[in-house]
Amino acid sequence: MPLTASDPGRNCPLCPRLVAFREEWRAKQPEWNNAPVPSFGVEEGRLLIVGLAPGLRGANRTGRPFTGDYAGDLLYQTMLDFGFARGVFETRPDDSLTPIDTAITNAVRCVPPENKPTTDEIRTCRTFLSGTVATMPRLRAIIALGKIAHDSAVVALGERMSRHKFGHRARHNIGSLSVFDSYHCSRYNTNTGVLTPEMFRAVFSDVRAFLDSDGS
Ligand code: URA
Repeated sequence: MPLTASDPGRNCPLCPRLVAFREEWRAKQPEWNNAPVPSFGVEEGRLLIVGLAPGLRGANRTGRPFTGDYAGDLLYQTMLDFGFARGVFETRPDDSLTPIDTAITNAVRCVPPENKPTTDEIRTCRTFLSGTVATMPRLRAIIALGKIAHDSAVVALGERMSRHKFGHRARHNIGSLSVFDSYHCSRYNTNTGVLTPEMFRAVFSDVRAFLDSDGS
C-alpha cells in the first residue's frame, strides 16, 4: 500500500530535467508507470528501507520500488529471509509480496537519466523522504542502500552529513532512530563483488537483532 500522504503526485513538477525525461518515456512507453514511484509498505512499520531511485525499465515501468529491477531480486529475497516480508516476489506489483513492519522508498522518486540524479534533484526530493519519515510513527530503523540514500536520510533526520560517514555495515544513531548502511544491492555492485549476498544479509541480520531487542 502506498504511503500516499508523503508521496509526490504523478505530475510532480519540481525537477525540470526529470519531468522532461518522464515525458519522453510517457511518449515512448505509454503503458509504463513513468511517474514518481510511491513508497511501498507499512506506515506503522519500524523499518524504512531507502534506495537510490527507480530503474528505467524496473520500478519506473512497474510503479513499485525495486520491482522489475535486478536489485529487487536480492532485496526482496533478503527481506523474506529475515521476516521483513511474506508472500512471493514475482517482479510485478500485483504479486503477493507483502512487507512486514517495513516500508520501502527511494531517495529520488523519479527515474533519472543514466540512473544518476543530480545534487539538486536529491535535495529537492528529500522533502518527500522527510515526509515519509514523518508519516511513520513507530519508525526505529532505516536501512540506507548506498551513499546517496545514506546522505539523504542523515539530512532528512536533521543531521549533518559530515558527522555521519557512509560505511557498509556502519550504524548511526540519530535521535531515536538508527541508520544502518549497506552498499547498494545493484547489479553492478553484486557482479563486481563489492556486495555479496552474505554482506547484504549481515546488514539485515544486524537490523533484525536491533528491532528484536528494541523495547520501545
Ligand atoms: N529500484 C529502485 O526502486 N530503487 C533503487 O535504488 C534501485 C532500483
